Amino acid sequence: MRPSRLLLYCRAGFEKECAQEITAAAAEMGVEGYVKARPDSGFAVFHPHQEDMGAELGGHLEFRRLVFARQMVRVPELLSALPEADRASPIAAAAAGLGKRFRELWIEMPDTNEGKSLASLTRPLGPHLDKALARAGVAIADAAAPQRLHVFFVGGRACYVGLSEVANSARWPMGIVRLRMPSASPSRSTLKLAEALLEFFDDREREKRFAPGMTAVDLGASPGGWTWQLVQRHMHVIAVDNGPMDPALLDTGQVKHRREDGFHFEPAEPVDWMVCDMVESPSRIARLAARWVAQGWCAGTIFNLKLPMKKRWEEVVRCREIIGEALGGRGYFLRVKQLSHDREEVTAYLARR
Ligand SMILES: C[S@@+](CC[C@H](N)C(=O)[O-])C[C@H]1O[C@@H](n2cnc3c(N)ncnc32)[C@H](O)[C@@H]1O
Repeated sequence: MRPSRLLLYCRAGFEKECAQEITAAAAEMGVEGYVKARPDSGFAVFHPHQEDMGAELGGHLEFRRLVFARQMVRVPELLSALPEADRASPIAAAAAGLGKRFRELWIEMPDTNEGKSLASLTRPLGPHLDKALARAGVAIADAAAPQRLHVFFVGGRACYVGLSEVANSARWPMGIVRLRMPSASPSRSTLKLAEALLEFFDDREREKRFAPGMTAVDLGASPGGWTWQLVQRHMHVIAVDNGPMDPALLDTGQVKHRREDGFHFEPAEPVDWMVCDMVESPSRIARLAARWVAQGWCAGTIFNLKLPMKKRWEEVVRCREIIGEALGGRGYFLRVKQLSHDREEVTAYLARR
């Protein structure tokens, strides 16, 4: 069984967007195929028309460019009719067909209520599977192995057994970043910026680019969850919003509150970061972010795009085009991602190269 298909995890309800983007990305690489995705299932599977093209796609498609896919796993066909008395043996046999050494093993399921109900089944499976894999000659804690083994349950007796490249996949089980809500933050939105910093930067880059003493403008800052993240990093923030800011943030002396329109605000001097969580049409926010970068008002920007109910993929494509046009089509870096903490929205990171 060759792992010629691509299994993509996504937020439930975004299977269509996930399918649209993988189809477009594959077509760009000259790979034609079709997607099977049940609405609200939390995953989609891309089937290339030609099996060998699947390996090409799985090997070369950059995971980081995908917006709606939370994880990307190369899989053969679904393993079904697993015997209830011994699910581990057939899974281990399938794994042995994929490789002999893996960095780690993740037992996962879709991020849906149905998926959660499978946890009682998958939790006790771990030790059995470890033994069955050992018997099948598969090592699963090899720090030097470039691939990870995934067992993704889609029902009590059916799962995909596949592999991902550690360097070209999500770093978190189920592709979900689990963060604890900081009790001192004035809003839950804080988790979006916290996750964006984890998603878009590695540890070293994050410490370097969000260092003490750096400056930021937060557009649509009230009550201050995003500002709070920056203040925690000992940065200085101009918080722009007609709404109130959390007094504790103002007391730090690191925050200046400006009751102005975020679309008209201009910084007196360039800042390191502009972050923006204003609820507005995505194209308007994309244009605003591009203007900040084009004018050199900020070195980089992180902004949230609230998606419409329909044509959400098309809207992301449109925003990318708007940014490309505003910045002359090159010389910039853009990543867009639907974060674990994003709902009907995506988050983007844009900077000059
Ligand atoms: C989702 S909330 C921001 C939450 C904030 N990021 C946090 O973590 O607490 C959106 C904010 O954008 C502000 N907003 C919307 N349009 C704006 C505009 N044109 N100028 C400034 N603020 C605006 C709203 O007042 C609202 O406080």
